[in-house]
Amino acid sequence: MIRVVRRTGELHCYSGVVPHFRVMPEPEFHPRTASYQADPERVARVLLLYSGGLDTSVMLKWIQDRYGAEIVTLTVDLGQPGEDWGVVTGKAEQLGALETVVLDAREEFARDYVLPAIKANALYGGGYPLFTALARPLIAKLAVEVAREHGCDTIAHGCTGKGNDQVRIDGTIATLDPELKLIAPVREWSMGRDEEIAYAREHKIPIKGASEGTPYSIDDNLWGRSSEGGPIEDLSEPPRDDVFQLVTRPEDAPDEPQLLRVGFERGCPVSLDGEALGLVELLERAAEAGRRHGVGIVDHIEDRIVGLKVRDLYEVPAAAIILSAHRELEKLVSTIHQNNFKGTLESHWAYLTYAGLWLEPLRGDLDAFMDSANEFVTGEITVKLYRGSVTPVARSSPYALYDRSLASFGESGGNFSQAASPGFIELFTLQSRLAHRIRRDKDG
Ligand code: ARG
Repeated sequence: MIRVVRRTGELHCYSGVVPHFRVMPEPEFHPRTASYQADPERVARVLLLYSGGLDTSVMLKWIQDRYGAEIVTLTVDLGQPGEDWGVVTGKAEQLGALETVVLDAREEFARDYVLPAIKANALYGGGYPLFTALARPLIAKLAVEVAREHGCDTIAHGCTGKGNDQVRIDGTIATLDPELKLIAPVREWSMGRDEEIAYAREHKIPIKGASEGTPYSIDDNLWGRSSEGGPIEDLSEPPRDDVFQLVTRPEDAPDEPQLLRVGFERGCPVSLDGEALGLVELLERAAEAGRRHGVGIVDHIEDRIVGLKVRDLYEVPAAAIILSAHRELEKLVSTIHQNNFKGTLESHWAYLTYAGLWLEPLRGDLDAFMDSANEFVTGEITVKLYRGSVTPVARSSPYALYDRSLASFGESGGNFSQAASPGFIELFTLQSRLAHRIRRDKDG
């Protein structure tokens, strides 16, 4: 028996025709694999999540051409430094947007997303304070609201098919409004960066010098900034200096340390150096101090939801300061049992948030725990900022579980009976001593 094995890409050919690699005709539209994906026939008006960068600008044109749809853009201000929203919306109008909406969501982001993360000391993978992951469910929620207001049947976003953000945005929108459909052009248009730039040139889409010039994919808000891609993907190389646009390199930071006193009420940061501040302003000022002192640079290997590992370079000056102060205060006012237990729930909280399951009921359950655990997290922590480090150096709280007269080295003890300690030690070590004795005896 003869088995014919045909390699993909080979063509059955009749004589006279030079064999050629088979080129699959590009399907008109990719097959849909989920209920929420838009049916191209039924897309009339699209709400596009628009940042003004290369991807979403190309998209603005591409969706109009490809789907013959009207576009409303939504841009969400989450405290991205240095953005001019007038310029962003002007660009959207120029590219044919029917309407442009900009929402200032900084307060809501800080209060309803960053604050729960502070209470949960949230760090994914031990280093990532989740600023992107926290922003996505809010952006998705606002997109649903604006889409309804403006009669859009579909929401479009610039997430790729390799990242976490698509999971967070698709998942949240599909949860909030099962009627709305989604388009993620990057998952289907098979353009790389160079093709996108060519498309932009061809369609007279203005490109910011920066977005064309930088090889990195950037995302930022008031809780941090990330860079991915380009040279960062070479794990054998240390980060290049041009990555860091927010935080001063620690070696260039001032040689004078700064002390910063962070005040908390029930786990919420409320003051800096005694001055009462709203949360947004407080986070901005903390970030400013951290930036100056080279604080909050993280070189992070991360497990994405979709299975890939990726390297991210983070600049998180506010998070580095606030989380370190918060953790320190919590440690002071909580019991040994509370302190030992909370970490397991914190890592679960961080995972759910990272994985785009912000609306998962378990997150609500965990938040109830975090609120309760923060009930007495009131007081002040002084941190020292110096050349890349944040170190708690002074603490005070009306709820500190600390009694100097009991703990003091120099005091005889008061209510703490040193004479009673041997009895405690005997019982406390009972099982350990027993295990050693029995095993020693059995082994001879
Ligand atoms: N790795 C981080 C996350 O998944 C940051 C992603 C940054 N996003 C971006 N679009 N560049 O949350």
